[in-house]
Amino acid sequence: MYDISKQYEKLKGRDDTVILGIESSCDETAAAVFSHGRILSNVIASQIDIHRRYGGVVPEIASRNHTLALPSVVDEALKTAGVTLGDVDAIGVTYGAGLIGALLVGVSAAKALAYAAAKPLIKVNHVEAHVCANYIEHPDLKPPFLALVASGGHTSIIEVSSYCCYRLVGSTGDDAIGEAFDKVARLLGLPYPGGPNIDRLGREGRAIIDFVKKKHTFTDGKLSYSGLKTAVVNYIHNLRQHGEEPVAADVCASFTAAAVDPLMEAVCAAVEKFGTETLVIAGGVASNSYLREKAAQAGKTHGFDVFMPSPIYCTDNAAMVAVRAAFSARESKDLAPLDLSPQSNLRIGGGI
Ligand code: KG4
Ligand code: ZN
Repeated sequence: MYDISKQYEKLKGRDDTVILGIESSCDETAAAVFSHGRILSNVIASQIDIHRRYGGVVPEIASRNHTLALPSVVDEALKTAGVTLGDVDAIGVTYGAGLIGALLVGVSAAKALAYAAAKPLIKVNHVEAHVCANYIEHPDLKPPFLALVASGGHTSIIEVSSYCCYRLVGSTGDDAIGEAFDKVARLLGLPYPGGPNIDRLGREGRAIIDFVKKKHTFTDGKLSYSGLKTAVVNYIHNLRQHGEEPVAADVCASFTAAAVDPLMEAVCAAVEKFGTETLVIAGGVASNSYLREKAAQAGKTHGFDVFMPSPIYCTDNAAMVAVRAAFSARESKDLAPLDLSPQSNLRIGGGI
């Protein structure tokens, strides 16, 4: 009989819980332990090298490799933290959004561990976890604030009114910003994942190509990157039809500016609209050097504080999942039954 309601009750109001976090929504198999406000371990088994040969994540291959990697990743996270499963107060797991098969592996593992060790299971929204990556290195950060999550799957502006209360106030209607980075990289023949390569090459280039900046900006709470992507495709194909090769560094610098500048404009407008004094950025694309610079600059110009995680906590990891779960445990929220199912299209509650 799996009855953890009493244990779960005991977590209420506590800041000293030991939380095991598990993440498997895309191509990183990850586990981490968070306790007393500190990350005790953060283990990430990346599948990047496996998917690189296909030019992107192959969902079925991702699921299979999560299955292979997860047991040793969890073991290592517990060992490095110097705890046993018995010491863990609750297990937090990403149950959406993400690739359904990949999510299923992490959720199944977390359910099995929760059942075997009779521990509470806490369901975690991946995008909210990205936001929570910011608490790891910034103990002074406190809600309310506005967050931008820029990743391979999301470009979301979120109003964070408390540790467990999130409301979507703006997002892309089509491609996410990270997806656009990866597609442009592929066009230029750069290896997967394209974002870091565009970042590196873009720093050597000049933003001199005008990729229809205004057309993919933020209107009525919607951002769009498909127009920008098409503009880059057309530019490159046009040159190639005339027997010329694009200057990759200039394409990278110009694309980055065209992707980031309107996004930062939208974020600044949202900061003003919601009257917040703090902006938090998160997600894989938050490790982009140009975006980080622009966000810091915007904060100085408009007079708001800007927080961002170190790059290791921007891309997918389980430390952020454990932190998000710790807040739920403290507030007696998000306790999941053992028939928890992953939700590929899980959205942030409320808002548009
Ligand atoms: O958050 P994340 O690890 O996974 C998702 O939740 O999607 O984000 C991955 C995305 C990829 O599209 C990757 O190309 C992009 O983040 N990315 C970057 C950089 N590092 C990772 N994009 C631009 N510049 C970077 N330095
Ligand atoms: Zn992510």
